[in-house]
Amino acid sequence: MPSKKSPIRPGLFKLLKTPRGILENFKKTWRTKADSFHWPENTKRSRLSMHETLEFLNVTTKDLSHVSYLCLWGVGKKQKAAMKEHMERRLTWIEEMFQQGLEIVVALGPQKSRKGLIEYLPIDVAPEPVKGQDSLFLNCIWVLPRFQKTGLGKRLMHHFLNRAKKVGGASVLAYEGDKWFGYFNYMPTTFFNRFGFKEVSRDETRVLLHLDLGAQRTPELLLPQSQRIAKKARTAVDVFCNSQCPWSGWMADEVSRNAKSSSIMLRRICTDSREAIEEVGLARGISVNGRPVIKRMAAWKEIKSALEKSTNSN
Ligand SMILES: CC(C)(COP(=O)(O)OP(=O)(O)OC[C@H]1O[C@@H](n2cnc3c(N)ncnc32)[C@H](O)[C@@H]1OP(=O)(O)O)[C@@H](O)C(=O)NCCC(=O)NCCS
Repeated sequence: MPSKKSPIRPGLFKLLKTPRGILENFKKTWRTKADSFHWPENTKRSRLSMHETLEFLNVTTKDLSHVSYLCLWGVGKKQKAAMKEHMERRLTWIEEMFQQGLEIVVALGPQKSRKGLIEYLPIDVAPEPVKGQDSLFLNCIWVLPRFQKTGLGKRLMHHFLNRAKKVGGASVLAYEGDKWFGYFNYMPTTFFNRFGFKEVSRDETRVLLHLDLGAQRTPELLLPQSQRIAKKARTAVDVFCNSQCPWSGWMADEVSRNAKSSSIMLRRICTDSREAIEEVGLARGISVNGRPVIKRMAAWKEIKSALEKSTNSN
C-alpha cells in the first residue's frame, strides 16, 4: 500500500497494477491540473521565501538516487519495474555526460526531501536537435506538482541563469501547448518567456528559445527530416527515443507492445549520438513511412490516431 505521505490517493492505487492503470492514473492526476491551469496576475499563492531552507545540490555520481526518485515520482512498483532498464540507461548517460559538462541541480528541503531538479549542458552536446555555441542548453526543469507555484521553478531558473551568464547564453527547446503524454503542459514556452527567453526558431509547436547573455551567438533548430523509403506493402513506423529521458524508452516499449498484433514494420531508433540527432532532426517521436508525425513524447492513444491518419492518407 502507498505510504501515508504518498501523493497517490489510496483509491487509485489499485489502478497502478496495470500499465493501462498507470496511464489512467496519470490522466486523472494531470489532466485536471493541465486543464485548469491559469495564471491570473493577482492570485495570491504561498511563496517559498528566498531564505527558506532549501539546499541546491550539484548532483555527482553518488547522488544519482535523487534523480531516479524525481524522474519516477508518483509511479507504482510495477511501473517502476517496467522503467528499470530505461532509468539505468539514463543514469549511465548522466555519468558519461558529466564528462562533457552536464550539470544537474536538485532542490532539497528539510530532511533532504526532494522537490525538483534542473538539468543543463553545453549546447554543442545537447541531446536535442539544436546547433549552437557559447550557450548552456536546458534539458529539463521539473518541480514536483505539490511544490509547484511556490517559487521553486524560479529559484532553479535563477541558479541555471547564473551559470549560463558565464557561458554567454541560455537556450531551451520549449513546447507551445503540448502535453506530456497528452496530460500536462510540457516544458511550456510561457514559463521561459518570463525569464526573458525569445523565440529564435520553431517547428510547429516546438519552439527554440534563447536568452543572449553576452555571447551573441544565436542557436538553430534542426528540423526533422523525411526519409525516402521504398514503397512497401506494410506501414513502416520508426520510434525515436534516447537515454536522456527514461520515459522515451517507455514510450517505445508501449508502441512495441500495442503494435505487436498489427502488420506494421517497427524500428526503434536511438538518438543518443549527435550524428543521429543531426541526421534525424528529432530526439523523441514517431515517423510513419519516413515522415515525422509526432515530435515529442506521446501516449499510445495519440500515436494510434496519428498512425491511422497517416496510413489513411497514403
Ligand atoms: C514549469 C514549472 C517548472 C514551473 O515551476 P513552479 O515552481 O510552479 O514555478 P514558480 O512558482 O517558481 O513560478 C515562477 C513564475 O512563473 C510563472 N509560471 C509558473 N508556471 C508557469 C507556466 N506553466 N506558464 C507560465 N508561467 C508560469 C508563475 O506564475 C511565476 O510568475 P510570477 O513570478 O510573476 O508570479 C513546473 O510547473 C514544472 O515542473 N512543470 C513541468 C515541466 C516539464 O515538463 N518538465 C519535464 C518533465 S520530464
